[in-house]
Amino acid sequence: MKQGIFITFEGPDGSGKTTHAKLLAQWLEKQGFSVVLTREPGGTPFAESIRKLLLKPGENVFPATELLLYAASRAQHTQELIKPALAKGKFVLSDRYSDSTVAYQHFGRSLDINIINELNKIATGGLKPDLTVVIDIKTNRGMDRVSRNRAKDRLENENSLFHGRIRKGFLALSRKEPGRIKVITSGGSIQGTQEKILKITREFLKRKKLS
Ligand code: TMP
Repeated sequence: MKQGIFITFEGPDGSGKTTHAKLLAQWLEKQGFSVVLTREPGGTPFAESIRKLLLKPGENVFPATELLLYAASRAQHTQELIKPALAKGKFVLSDRYSDSTVAYQHFGRSLDINIINELNKIATGGLKPDLTVVIDIKTNRGMDRVSRNRAKDRLENENSLFHGRIRKGFLALSRKEPGRIKVITSGGSIQGTQEKILKITREFLKRKKLS
């Protein structure tokens, strides 16, 4: 059986990527593909336990601890869920993956990029997304959206300077790998943003000779 396709959604908090990952999963299923929709941190029972530790508000978590826990969650998720699904020829859509560690723990927390790249290599076993959609949003808008929707988690509670660095980080990553990482500006309606994502996906499927 042919190897599946791995698509990731990335972006600052409040960008709407969770909604759009779900919408794309539904659209791909309608096209007849078998889809696994998952997320990071988390995605398997053990990795979801790590997610709870990471996001609990009020904890004093050191940057190195945080980095290692995100990597641990990714290692489990990749081995237990993502790789087996890809081996069965499925489409795997993940709401965040290794680019988030570069954006948050390097650009956000200023941890050494070489260490992050090495840890990402260990955690992913060298797996890279085939396509990454970054949903970009202005920092204040993203933060307003998060506050409106629900109680903030530990990372969302960080200040706007931190979130501004994350946004810059995703944009820098997209300039480094323009073939894989496509940036979409979140602004108008959900439908408008979804149309932009479908356009990118259709082009991608054509390139892969899947449509
Ligand atoms: P989510 O709310 O988008 O599911 O993501 C949880 C939070 O974890 C979000 O604030 C981004 C952060 N995060 C990191 O800091 N590093 C990572 O490697 C990942 C995957 C997420």
